[in-house]
Amino acid sequence: MLGRLNHVAIAVPDLAAAAARYRDLLGADVSPPLALPDHGVTVVFIDLGNSKVELLEPLGGNSPIAAFLERNPTGGMHHICYEVDDIRAARDRLLASGARVLGDGEPKTGAHGNPVLFLHPKDFSGTLVELEQV
Ligand code: CO
Repeated sequence: MLGRLNHVAIAVPDLAAAAARYRDLLGADVSPPLALPDHGVTVVFIDLGNSKVELLEPLGGNSPIAAFLERNPTGGMHHICYEVDDIRAARDRLLASGARVLGDGEPKTGAHGNPVLFLHPKDFSGTLVELEQV
């Protein structure tokens, strides 16, 4: 069921500063910022060749990462995203074994235009897990 690592997402309080740090100190290939109002974040993608890191900054007054940044004011790892080939089949299998799917359980369109779901961190060793159908 589980495929490749698609990305690791890091929530940051200052996207421009974090993007500059990755670009200038680490020599990373950093995309321009992309505002995703439907998701309440602005994101940059760092292409690592075999995977990606995404830096997320809150956008708007109701951002899903605002509470995380209150607890982690300098930023921190927010979630990890794994690829699946059939997200509804993956969801049904998880629900049948008692794992918790966040929201209404219906896949939403994620930052890459693909269907995504989030799984409760308490079911996965304290890590928020995103599944993305690719
Ligand atoms: Co993500």
